Amino acid sequence: MILLCAVVVLGIVAIPAGSGSDTTVVTPPPSGIVQQKSLLAPPQPKAAVNCAEVACLALTFDDGPDPVNTPRLLDLLRDRQVRATFFVVGANAAAHPDIVRRMYSEGHEVGNHSWVHPNLTKLDPAQIDDQVVRTQFAVMAAGVPAPRWFRPPYGAMNDQVRAHVPMALALWNIDPEDWGAKDPGQVVERILARAGPGRVVDLHDMHRLTVDAMPAVIDALKPHYTLVTMSELFDTEPGQRGEFYGR
Ligand code: NI
Repeated sequence: MILLCAVVVLGIVAIPAGSGSDTTVVTPPPSGIVQQKSLLAPPQPKAAVNCAEVACLALTFDDGPDPVNTPRLLDLLRDRQVRATFFVVGANAAAHPDIVRRMYSEGHEVGNHSWVHPNLTKLDPAQIDDQVVRTQFAVMAAGVPAPRWFRPPYGAMNDQVRAHVPMALALWNIDPEDWGAKDPGQVVERILARAGPGRVVDLHDMHRLTVDAMPAVIDALKPHYTLVTMSELFDTEPGQRGEFYGR
């Protein structure tokens, strides 16, 4: 209820789930009655893969889209027929809606990584709501369904964050620290050393070196794992909440 009130203050109005196609461009009207469920994702087809039975692994990429390195990554994921999850920063998504649209149209999942990547534990409830809601609308404005997953910047959470993010929280259990790696080989090594069924790898698509490492990572993982999105890995329902590190 607190969230609902905060959203009303933001002056954002619902676009009823299921109205129009996935490619409808959403323009937030100036005022009106809010339906909280509008911020949640519409139902999507069930995953073709059953990760309860098959060895799955999820590659996830945060902080983009980046105009140079994200398209490079999308090219190589497409060439290798691999799907991933992109946790976009809302301000970057708003600057590059074409890249967000491409992610979705090529089968990837788009998640929410806040509007400008603050530590949410330092914000008040209204500020947390703003970070979440603005990013949901930036993704929807790109013609992509509202994200079902939220990845807290830095993985920083407290009870207030948990209460004010009305989505599943996407954590991880493999952190290769790609942002600090000296060369692509280091990223490859760190991932392969910890790879296992049900794991979630946290990567960053704005780093050239991370993208450089992906062909070797994917070629090594693909014979052993089905590479899937977050929703496929956890088989979550729209609106489902909780914290997910791996399965
Ligand atoms: Ni991040």
